[in-house]
Amino acid sequence: MDLARPRDIRITCAPALASWLSDELGPLELPVIERTKTGVITHGTWTDTWRLCLELRTALQVLYPLKKFRCQSPEDLYRQARSMAWETIIGPDGYLTVESRVDHPSINNSMFPNLRLKDAIVDRIAAETGSRPDSGSERRGVVVHLFWKGDRATIALNASGRKLADRGYRRNPHKAPLQETLAAAIVLATGWKGGCPLVLPMCGSGTLAIEAALIAMGRAPGLLRSKFGFEHVRGFDAERWSGLRAAARQRAAKSPGVPIVASDLDERAIEAARRNAETAGVTRLIDFHVADFATAPMPSQPGVLIVNPEYGARLGQEELLQPTYERLGSHFKNRCAGWTCFVFSGNRYLTGNIGLKASQRIPFFNAEIECRLLKYEMWKGSKG
Ligand SMILES: C[S@@+](CC[C@H](N)C(=O)[O-])C[C@H]1O[C@@H](n2cnc3c(N)ncnc32)[C@H](O)[C@@H]1O
Repeated sequence: MDLARPRDIRITCAPALASWLSDELGPLELPVIERTKTGVITHGTWTDTWRLCLELRTALQVLYPLKKFRCQSPEDLYRQARSMAWETIIGPDGYLTVESRVDHPSINNSMFPNLRLKDAIVDRIAAETGSRPDSGSERRGVVVHLFWKGDRATIALNASGRKLADRGYRRNPHKAPLQETLAAAIVLATGWKGGCPLVLPMCGSGTLAIEAALIAMGRAPGLLRSKFGFEHVRGFDAERWSGLRAAARQRAAKSPGVPIVASDLDERAIEAARRNAETAGVTRLIDFHVADFATAPMPSQPGVLIVNPEYGARLGQEELLQPTYERLGSHFKNRCAGWTCFVFSGNRYLTGNIGLKASQRIPFFNAEIECRLLKYEMWKGSKG
């Protein structure tokens, strides 16, 4: 199969992140052909997918289409897939995972199309080479993606393999951590790029702090990952890949020159955050403290503050959390003159208790929960 041919690459993301994802394509000199609720379509070659996996902060998957066809039944799927030259993609001693998103009346068990597609690929390779590659759900080899809606199906290579959110640094998740890609989008949405101090006074396991450090350094998040799906595809050019990684490493600034101050009331959260930052190689950029947000250290030069307080998905938690939100409002008024403060929360009732008027309310989703990133400009001398 011709992987040098530029194709329409589908990059997926969590709901509400597509605009941040689109913005990331400009610097990579790749076009935005279409934007949907959960992704962006660009145009590029198979090796462009490697750059995308390396550089993108807000994407989940990078899908390079191999074949689009009309599909009315699992048999159509098998026949079409069986005619593709899989032996040029997966070696007989390779490992293969099939994943799918299917919406067709003939399918009521989503595992069935995966199985038919896997059979087609393995049968083809066995017929051409005399041996059958292994398959399973572990995503440790080539990952083949099926999108089948109505009578249209697309078979693609999932270049990322495991989701790109899985950067590899968060070995200690602590409580309610944000997905890494969402944390990156939140930092991008605040406009903070390292030009002024950043304070994260409820940092939990440190996801926002670590993503912010990577952004400030201009460090590609994919440099942290040891393996991507594309590395298992036949003909993988390891030398070219190591050249791309070396160039990305060289571009990364050594030191952004401003402090990132991350704190949390919970000592165990700070322990986890410290270890995660160490794994991500950004410890020296972040000052960690155990403190209540109201007494946490603040640099003298004003900057940006981001908090992600709990927002009480369970019954009865709202009442317990209300005082925290009231205290946040007082804290912004009393200690944050000149700062731009952001609150990420999924509970409008609770954010109402902050008692200040937000100048911007940026929509996000955290898993299924609709959230807002609220912006409060605390002008010097402002009373809120
Ligand atoms: C939703 S979690 C933050 C998760 C974080 N964004 C992450 O990705 O790991 C909220 C954090 O706020 C902390 N917290 C709650 N009340 C606090 C307070 N008064 N001062 C400082 N931290 C507090 C909790 O310990 C918890 O780690």
